[in-house]
Amino acid sequence: MLSLLVLALALSAQADSNCSESRGGQWPVTNLFVVVNKEASRQLSPAYVPKDLEVIPVELISPLAPKHQTLRAPALRAYARMHEAAAKSGVKLFIRSAYRSFDDQCRTFASKVAKFTTQFHSPERGFGYAQKISAEPGRSQHQLGTTMDIVFEELNYDFSIEKADKTPSFAWLDQHAHEFGFIMSYPFGDDDPENHGYNSATGYFFEPWHWRYVGVVAAKAYKASGQLPDDFLKTLESTQRK
Ligand code: DAL
Ligand code: ZN
Repeated sequence: MLSLLVLALALSAQADSNCSESRGGQWPVTNLFVVVNKEASRQLSPAYVPKDLEVIPVELISPLAPKHQTLRAPALRAYARMHEAAAKSGVKLFIRSAYRSFDDQCRTFASKVAKFTTQFHSPERGFGYAQKISAEPGRSQHQLGTTMDIVFEELNYDFSIEKADKTPSFAWLDQHAHEFGFIMSYPFGDDDPENHGYNSATGYFFEPWHWRYVGVVAAKAYKASGQLPDDFLKTLESTQRK
């Protein structure tokens, strides 16, 4: 057990040491369509910090989540409108996690590696599992400031890969989120024996809670396109150069 702990800490330290490395970041931070994923050229620089972050009103945040959280102004405005519309239909949406800096993501990823290394009694398996559930630093859309994890009261504000998409709240989001400019980044897939809706196109398990703001016009076009989110966004990314 002790050796596992040591290995987990070593892996965490390895992930932490990546925090200070400087990388790409080719797009302006105001671009709503920046594709961030596991591809080599799709990593954000540690210096990629949105300039228009605003504090999220506390009533939009889950009672179990940190109260001081931020989003980029356009995403926050759109989210507030969506929250209000959902409430009128009897659906209560809550933000669990919103903007995360490069360093926040470093800590988040390292903690997942440590957790799953312990759970699986294997550093390799723990690291591999963590990579399917959490983005490595520089690879999280949360760093864009336009992305949030949305949780529901009926699931005690928790994440559930198995249950989230079967709730009335998710059904509402699935039907209406694009009308407010949001798209779900990590759709269900059935590509891996480790399952949990693993999608080999995204490299992640199904994340029915993870929504990204791209604007109403783009979100509606995405919904009609039948494409995967990143394939769709790649066609728009270069249209916003500043
Ligand atoms: N859970 C998603 C992949 C993230 O960490 O950004
Ligand atoms: Zn997320």
